[in-house]
Amino acid sequence: MAAVSLSGKNILLGVTGGVAAYKAAELCRLLRKAGADVRVGMTEAAKRFVTPLTFQSLSGKPVLTSIWEAADGDGMAHIRASREADLILVAPATAEFLAKLAHGRADDLLSTLCLARSVPLYVAPAMNQAMWSAAPTQRNLAQLHADGVRVLGPAAGEQACGETGPGRMLEPAELLAELLAGHVHGELAGRRVVVTAGPTFEPIDPVRGLTNRSSGKMGYAVASAAREAGAAVCLVSGPTCLAVPAGVRRVDVETAAQMRAAVLAELPADVFIAVAAVADYRVETAARQKLKKDASGLRLELTPTPDILAEVAARADAPFCVGFAAETENLIAHAEAKRQRKNVPLLVANLAQDTFGRDSAELVLLDAAGRHPLPRADKTVQARAIIRHIAAHLN
Ligand code: CTP
Repeated sequence: MAAVSLSGKNILLGVTGGVAAYKAAELCRLLRKAGADVRVGMTEAAKRFVTPLTFQSLSGKPVLTSIWEAADGDGMAHIRASREADLILVAPATAEFLAKLAHGRADDLLSTLCLARSVPLYVAPAMNQAMWSAAPTQRNLAQLHADGVRVLGPAAGEQACGETGPGRMLEPAELLAELLAGHVHGELAGRRVVVTAGPTFEPIDPVRGLTNRSSGKMGYAVASAAREAGAAVCLVSGPTCLAVPAGVRRVDVETAAQMRAAVLAELPADVFIAVAAVADYRVETAARQKLKKDASGLRLELTPTPDILAEVAARADAPFCVGFAAETENLIAHAEAKRQRKNVPLLVANLAQDTFGRDSAELVLLDAAGRHPLPRADKTVQARAIIRHIAAHLN
């Protein structure tokens, strides 16, 4: 079963300096056995616990240890190594390494590889229980969670130092199982998902425009949850202040017309999730120069923007389309009418005044089977529930 599960996957295995480094050797062997191509990167401290030769023998490739080795060729080996990987797994990850990651430091090869990545990063912490529970470590972990880093473990139990508590690295077989669940056997593994998020901005003149209160948080959470479920995700985003979720490819747009073009360029796809609050109108002709104040007032001629969701849903090769409806009244009636009008199998409804800009949301999913309420919860939690619902429709 596991023998073929990771075939074709390039895994960059980072090893940092803790006693559990000896278990990373076994992990390397298991990853290879599961079909993965493994490249190992070690910190200087890790080399004091296990030699690079061990990992070279197990991975069948030279081990990446020094940033200065990259001085030959174009000197970009560190960028390439992280680009060629499908995922990075740092196991064991020491308290020191987690601190470095949380602060975006890049003073050695492994931390540089992690910072330069555009792929998911998994870390398997291993440290003394007091170091794990220490406030700075917990602060760093909160930051890593917020940055989309996936933290596997640690387990609680007896430690090398003789103490007992949380901080023990998960066993190699457990780490392999976690990777398979999240990355390979995810509910959307192998699917292409396109998500729109944020507001659009329709210019009036070079300094002003029409926009709305969408923060983009829900769309970004949905993109992140789809990625977590194993999909290849493209996030077409209007202007927001949010960071790109790990492993997600973002295309930045400003206007509804640009959003439409960017979405169409990503098709065909398996799933299209339209979370963006697209402006319904744009100014017919935006002024080339800044408009001057005029005591008699200003009249703007507005033209409708293209309805991206309805257009995608009407295509012969339409992906599974999901719409969002933020209403201010008569939620269910308006949302169900919208679902029918746009001809989408699934619509996520919410009250705009309860949702916009907030970290949590109360939602109702509407599909042919009826209503599925999702009581108020963090948008990350809601996004995962939406992705599960979509996966159930697809599978
Ligand atoms: N949508 C879209 N393109 C548009 C407008 C909306 O893709 N030009 C999508 C949104 O991303 C959302 C859904 O359609 O998934 C519903 O958006 P909403 O603004 O509520 O719908 P409208 O058709 O604009 O209806 P309303 O009259 O309520 O504004």
